[in-house]
Amino acid sequence: MTWEELENKCRACQGCELHKTRTNVVFGCGNREADLMFVGEAPGESEDLSGVPFVGRAGKLFDKYLEAVDIPRESVYIANILKCRPPKNRDPLPAEEDVCIDYLREQVRLIRPKLIVCLGRIAAMRLIKPDYRITKEHGVWITRGAFEITAVYHPSLLLRDPRRKEEMLVDMKTVKAKLDALSGT
Ligand code: URA
Repeated sequence: MTWEELENKCRACQGCELHKTRTNVVFGCGNREADLMFVGEAPGESEDLSGVPFVGRAGKLFDKYLEAVDIPRESVYIANILKCRPPKNRDPLPAEEDVCIDYLREQVRLIRPKLIVCLGRIAAMRLIKPDYRITKEHGVWITRGAFEITAVYHPSLLLRDPRRKEEMLVDMKTVKAKLDALSGT
């Protein structure tokens, strides 16, 4: 599938009930040739209204971490497990993830990133393992075929629990170090 075919298919998707309440499909954004890809959970209100991932309060905090470790947002690709907003930001239902995950799979196939960072436990449970424990396992890298994968705290958790911010910075520094190691800088 090409990017155009994938994006058109995703934007027209009526695979689950969420299409009825969405304003926009939040397909994903950034560098389609990125070495590094971030995967969040699902769009929130600001994302649903704008069609762009991570632009609300959590997104602004995430931008600060990218800036802090000197990773330009436009150099990476950012997507979510779900492309449509769950009402009142409830957790994605397994059935919704099952329908939506193929879009993400195809994005990964087209981008061929070397590093994937899950933002939060929902993405980690889907992409790393179902019993992922974010407080224990964040920042631990696992090799999965052609890429390495880890998870960091979701920025909205950091808004609720700022004590975890230091750990997040440590993890993001590791992400940056891995990225630099790829290009030998
Ligand atoms: N939270 C997410 O997981 N994804 C977004 O795009 C915004 C908030």
